[in-house]
Amino acid sequence: MGRISVFGLGYVGTVTAACFAHHGNEVIGVDLSPGKVEAMEAGRSPIVEPKLSDLIGECHRACRLHATSDSATAVLNSDISFLCVGTPSLRNGKLDLGHIEPVCREIGETLKKKESFHLVVLRSTVLPGTAESIVVPALEKASGKRMGKDFGVCVNPEFMREGTAIADFLEPPMTVIGASDAAHSQMLREFYAWVPGRIFETSFRSAEMVKYVCNAWHATKVSFANEVGTLAKELGVDAESVVEIFLADTKLNISCSYLKPGFAFGGSCLPKDVRALNYRAKELDLDLPLFESLLPSNESHLERAVSMVLSTGKKRIAVLGLSFKASTDDLRESPQVQLVKRLIGEGCEIHIWDDNVSLGRLIGSNRKYIEEVIPHIGSLLSTNLEQVLKHAEVVIIGTRGIDKKLLDSHLRPSHFVVDLVNLEKSERPTASTSYEGICW
Ligand SMILES: NC(=O)c1ccc[n+]([C@@H]2O[C@H](COP(=O)([O-])OP(=O)(O)OC[C@H]3O[C@@H](n4cnc5c(N)ncnc54)[C@H](O)[C@@H]3O)[C@@H](O)[C@H]2O)c1
Repeated sequence: MGRISVFGLGYVGTVTAACFAHHGNEVIGVDLSPGKVEAMEAGRSPIVEPKLSDLIGECHRACRLHATSDSATAVLNSDISFLCVGTPSLRNGKLDLGHIEPVCREIGETLKKKESFHLVVLRSTVLPGTAESIVVPALEKASGKRMGKDFGVCVNPEFMREGTAIADFLEPPMTVIGASDAAHSQMLREFYAWVPGRIFETSFRSAEMVKYVCNAWHATKVSFANEVGTLAKELGVDAESVVEIFLADTKLNISCSYLKPGFAFGGSCLPKDVRALNYRAKELDLDLPLFESLLPSNESHLERAVSMVLSTGKKRIAVLGLSFKASTDDLRESPQVQLVKRLIGEGCEIHIWDDNVSLGRLIGSNRKYIEEVIPHIGSLLSTNLEQVLKHAEVVIIGTRGIDKKLLDSHLRPSHFVVDLVNLEKSERPTASTSYEGICW
């Protein structure tokens, strides 16, 4: 079992200290607040959280849980320090890192005197880049030692929720360990040998970012559910039965579908149906900002693709894939069509390859749509990939329905490839060309 110090005895730190002590470790909590230190040292919980008082009492009686306001004592008597200090919002929304640097300085000062290796674990929620730009430099400066040689640093975000913190801590959905040195993540992995769920070892920045992605997703889910309920109620629909049915679809709804970064949504359904919902909500005088943001967000993504292509300074463009997804010839509201239209407007010379789209076969609303948006589409479209790539400087991959071997055989090192659809790594063009994903 290990010797642990926990800096910050707030909601996260107190639960962390108690649960690690419960697992048999010797734990010392540190806080600036004398009241919190006094409470923990006396075997009482400094915060209110179900089951926490019992856990702290049990560990206190077993002499495995102590608290101090002296950071040096804590660092000298432990091998791993978990940083759980607060990172609140400033008035303007910016993240306040005002507690992170001082705590690193304090630990660094003591590391100066410490001979054995020490692992510093950042548990507080911080934006990507914080470990690299603040934590490591502050520790190195104050200690006069080097990360890697004398001490290690890991980013290990916390996923607990207040109210169910103990159960969440002891059975996390996953454990994320960010490090710049595999030996440091290995040390923490061994420390977490008891933890159920998958352990991910990744970079500092990815570990920092994962926490924000999770919280942004949770916030999106709550707002989505609330807007669904609000609209349903106003429409006289039983929101609960609608949501029950919605949740039962684990193929498209509660699943990994649509969650990989890629290109804008399109086709004959999503834009039309989102538009109709928003129009109806407006008629009902409902304020549904999340629903209202969907089409503008999609348009911004399309503009991102336009900017990315224009920023190459090259004007001869090959667009591979015109329909809104592979294996269909439906061009209605295809974002690829909108992209072509925008690039033509910017003076680009466009050639389009799409295996599924043959103008001669297009009929009905599909044909009418494309003829209205790009009247001379016939002269731009081809099913001959070699011809389309021949004069191009930039190659836009707008479909997954493309044969890698065929593509590789016609790509030249001078081609700049822009991937809009997030091809599987194994399907991406092989080396030599410059490859850039739109948002990865
Ligand atoms: N509260 C949650 O449910 C939760 C869940 C996951 C992640 N987080 C993240 O964990 C971090 C901590 O959150 P919290 O809610 O526990 O914060 P908190 O404000 O409840 O506690 C922070 C504690 O750190 C102490 N502190 C500040 N500087 C210190 C120093 N130099 N030395 C020792 N102690 C110091 C403060 O006195 C305070 O007691 C934040 O980054 C937060 O975003 C919180």
